[in-house]
Amino acid sequence: MTGRDIISISDLSIEEIFEIFGAAERLSKAVTGRGIDLLKGRVLASLFFEPSTRTRLSFESAMAKLGGTSISISDPASSSLSKGETLADTIKIIDSYSDVIVIRHPKDGAAKLASRFAEHPVINAGDGAGQHPTQTLLDLFTMWKEKKEISGLNVGIVGDLRYGRTVHSLAIALVRMGANLFLISPEELAMPSHLLRAISVESSPKISNSLERIIPNLDVVYATRIQKERFPDEAEYLKVADSYKINAKLLSKGKEDVIVMHPLPRVNEIDSEVDSTKYAKYFDQAKNGVPVRMAILSKILGEEY
Ligand code: NCD
Repeated sequence: MTGRDIISISDLSIEEIFEIFGAAERLSKAVTGRGIDLLKGRVLASLFFEPSTRTRLSFESAMAKLGGTSISISDPASSSLSKGETLADTIKIIDSYSDVIVIRHPKDGAAKLASRFAEHPVINAGDGAGQHPTQTLLDLFTMWKEKKEISGLNVGIVGDLRYGRTVHSLAIALVRMGANLFLISPEELAMPSHLLRAISVESSPKISNSLERIIPNLDVVYATRIQKERFPDEAEYLKVADSYKINAKLLSKGKEDVIVMHPLPRVNEIDSEVDSTKYAKYFDQAKNGVPVRMAILSKILGEEY
């Protein structure tokens, strides 16, 4: 994987995904306490044109634990982009200061474009309503740790399947890995048809607008935030804003060992009463962001562990 860009989850084979899981487990044991020097002297550049808490900080924490450093533009208004510099020029310069670039941008395809101007690897940390492949890796890692196997799992993805980039990458990976997919959303927020066609080649997802009807089948409920910022019009957002609310009563209708995941941030789609139940795995999921990103960085920077 040395030197590889990670723009889409399809850039990785199933074998490589499992290699990342193995490295994440080994690295998380190795760095307890003081960290290690695997990436000493290496520099990660993070370039975030949209808000982020978990993705940026877990990449930077991962780099620090492996002995490397991070430089970042988290506020594009304070960079030369605000003077009219093109993305191409900005990327070329940042590429010359760093060994790997992590980029988040509101436009679909921005990370792919950035990778054309960079000699070093580029990691897509979310491009508009496109993809978010490293979130998918930590989502899959969490399912694999919790359920021991991904093949055969019944996974219900709930909420904004239209604009949610995390679920675009996740749905592709899950069907390739042999999971059974249940897509649950209001009609207006259905999975885009090009993605639905792509995933239907491997298996036929079941489509519904009712989580209540589907929940008895599920091993994993993957909830998402309705992506308010991507709606062309606020009235359209308000129509679907409160489509799903996961609470303890609803979960009691599911399997005894069903788990609830969410890429976070949540707004109101999971009631806080769920947080202290055995079902809630979203905080563990966020925590897994650090070891999984340590594994990704060490692999694409050519330092196996
Ligand atoms: C997600 C994103 O940015 O796509 N957040 C994340 O990276 N954990 C999900 C979201 O914003 O709803």
